[in-house]
Amino acid sequence: MTIEPTLTDMNTIVSLAKRRGFVFPASEIYGGIGSSWDYGPLGVELKRNVRDAWWRAMVQERDDIVGLDSAIIQSPLVWEASGHVAGFTDPLIECRSCHRRYRADHIEKDLCPDCGEVGQFTEARQFNLMFKTFLGPVEEDAAVAFLRPETAQGIFTNFENVRTATRKKIPFGIAQTGKSFRNEITTGNFIFRTREFEQMEMEYFVRPEEGFASLEYWRTERMRWYTDLGINPDRLRFRQHDQDELAHYAAAVYDIEYLFPIGWSELEGIAYRGDFDLRQHQDSSGRKLEYFDDERQERFIPHVVEPASGVDRCLLAFLVDGYTEEEVNGESRTVLKLHRDLAPYKVAILPLSRNQKLVPKAREVYDIVRKRWMTDYDDSQSIGRRYRRQDEIGTPYCVTIDFQTVEEDDAVTVRDRDTMEQVRVPIAELGALLEDHLTG
Ligand code: GAP
Repeated sequence: MTIEPTLTDMNTIVSLAKRRGFVFPASEIYGGIGSSWDYGPLGVELKRNVRDAWWRAMVQERDDIVGLDSAIIQSPLVWEASGHVAGFTDPLIECRSCHRRYRADHIEKDLCPDCGEVGQFTEARQFNLMFKTFLGPVEEDAAVAFLRPETAQGIFTNFENVRTATRKKIPFGIAQTGKSFRNEITTGNFIFRTREFEQMEMEYFVRPEEGFASLEYWRTERMRWYTDLGINPDRLRFRQHDQDELAHYAAAVYDIEYLFPIGWSELEGIAYRGDFDLRQHQDSSGRKLEYFDDERQERFIPHVVEPASGVDRCLLAFLVDGYTEEEVNGESRTVLKLHRDLAPYKVAILPLSRNQKLVPKAREVYDIVRKRWMTDYDDSQSIGRRYRRQDEIGTPYCVTIDFQTVEEDDAVTVRDRDTMEQVRVPIAELGALLEDHLTG
């Protein structure tokens, strides 16, 4: 048996995602909308598992971080104070020949990627990425609102609320996950860059002199999160932002990059934001956002380190990294080697056939297992094809009910996705075995 992990191309992933119900093109029956994607029955499970894994690591398993779910629509004053109204822009250029628009920093050698003309671009103008809308029925300046371009600002504006409610002492963090919106000039590469996406962000508040040490700490922690969830470390790296590419709020930024099929690209940004945000909000709102350290009898505005990741981009990285084509005894198989915590289905229940002797027992086992684990039940086609289908969607364990089960031993066969090894287990012991394999 030869096992060769392959770095697959994006089309293979897009096609698997659609065929198996992970991700569909949005509005497809109307010809699609280009930059929007819908998550299908398996995608919604995978997405939730990614989000839950993040929440477990960042909130549930920590003493020093609490959660928040702030609104997508905030006062427009928030975005003025945060600098997004003035500075959250990308340089927009247009090709005079084909009139396609691009982000200037995405263009190489003045060459239009669409029509191939050289030197035909207009001067760059700054284009604000925030989606603007109006609150209420009248479209007037006084009613302007924005869809949030990052979840972070809802955390800063609630700093004092959360601190007072939880009586947390510095250092502590506030985490949230949720949708963000950016009117990106160019989208594409599947779910890598879209206009509507979901973020997982945590703002960690520290004493000013501890900012850079905390940045180092979070770099290590966040890299470990990806490798603990099975991402190949050879396809992960840090990239430090140069001074001239730092966001308007940042003192230092490291990206965690993944080797996507489109090349090394940002998966997560870990930024040292200094006291920029809390100070801006304090100055703009007139509300004190200082912290009083009662041990040292000192008052200061906390500094912030922010690990900020994207659910959709993580999901893409997990799909790409898990996708494996293997040759087994002269036959090829496709396996999605997702970490057990991320796999949409943890277990599949497969009666050998639809024979009436097998079905009641298979349903009985299904009812036991699904109470604890997200479980699929599949009785169509040959058992070999069903194994292949479960391999392709990353189900860690298949449980087969056969005639021996009902006629002889009340036991089932459990097949491991990665090793393809099979063990025979009494149904009475199945729960404990799965518990051990899926959580132990
Ligand atoms: N609060 C800081 C912040 O928003 P960012 O680097 O702009 O930082 C953080 O975004 C993460 O959000 C990115 O690393 C990426 O995973 C995700 N993200 C940002 N823009 C995205 C887009 N247009 N489509 C999909 N994901 C995006």
